[in-house]
Amino acid sequence: MEGNGEPPRLIEFDGMALPPFLPLKQDAKKRFEEIRNLECRKDDVILAVFPKSGTHWVWEIACMLLKNKAEYTKETKEFLFLEAIPDISLVDNIPSPRPLNTHVPYRWLPKQHIENGGKIIHVLRNPKDVAVSMYHHFDNTKEFGEVPDFKTFYEAQYLGPVKPFGGWFAYEKEFEEAEANDTRGTIFTVHYESMKKNPIEETKRLAKFLDVDVNDEIIAEIAEKCSFRKLKEANATVKDHSRLSKLHPNAREIMMKMYRKGEIGDWKNHFTVAMNEQFDAKFKEEMKDSKIQVQYE
Ligand code: A3P
Repeated sequence: MEGNGEPPRLIEFDGMALPPFLPLKQDAKKRFEEIRNLECRKDDVILAVFPKSGTHWVWEIACMLLKNKAEYTKETKEFLFLEAIPDISLVDNIPSPRPLNTHVPYRWLPKQHIENGGKIIHVLRNPKDVAVSMYHHFDNTKEFGEVPDFKTFYEAQYLGPVKPFGGWFAYEKEFEEAEANDTRGTIFTVHYESMKKNPIEETKRLAKFLDVDVNDEIIAEIAEKCSFRKLKEANATVKDHSRLSKLHPNAREIMMKMYRKGEIGDWKNHFTVAMNEQFDAKFKEEMKDSKIQVQYE
């Protein structure tokens, strides 16, 4: 988020278009290198997620599991958002286990975390709903300037020559390759749609991955408290947005719109038949060597 109301300029680094978070605006390369070289603890957990795929949601679930309590974290996930926090050394003061989170592609994740065999939670959402969610997010934040309509955003930015965080296809293909080479089982992928359809089962699976011994009652309570409606309400009533407000004058308003619809298939209200056919053809070509099964319904 940027804080001074000036019109955003495109920040480009390593083939990615980046939002104007202060550290990225100042020196994107420096921040990416700081992330890559971050000093990690063995029990750190990193949520590495392509934007608009459900980061806030799964971060909250992970925090509850790590605490073994269905209790909201007062802080927003932004306080451990590696590319946005003003000074990366702020994470040094956070007690373990730290639920760090980032949208940087796999190749930029902290080297030491990967060497340590540290846990990585990856959320994957179907790219049509991601496009819609990102369009509304950009319209809300103006991070990439004015967004006239969905089609313009979709053609010029989502599928444009320099895509946000490198674009869904590159991001997910890179992650898939990392997962295929992950002999130690350090990457956990959860599909947004599976979490939506089977929150209890998926939360249980995540608990197992995190090695936390949580009983069924707490699992059910976590799934319930992290349902879209409840989490949206908690975002407005429990979360402390004051730290964010120091970074951006409209932080609270932006955060309120973060929980927009929380559904599977909103793409049907945004894609024309022609756009949909064109996207399916592009998907087929881009993902021809991939085993990822996206869920559009
Ligand atoms: P929509 O814009 O489609 O509503 P991120 O946290 O990565 O920015 O992702 C934001 C998306 O996740 C938004 O999607 C938001 O509504 C959705 N989301 C947040 N909490 C959710 C929940 N508990 N259940 C389902 N979707 C949720």
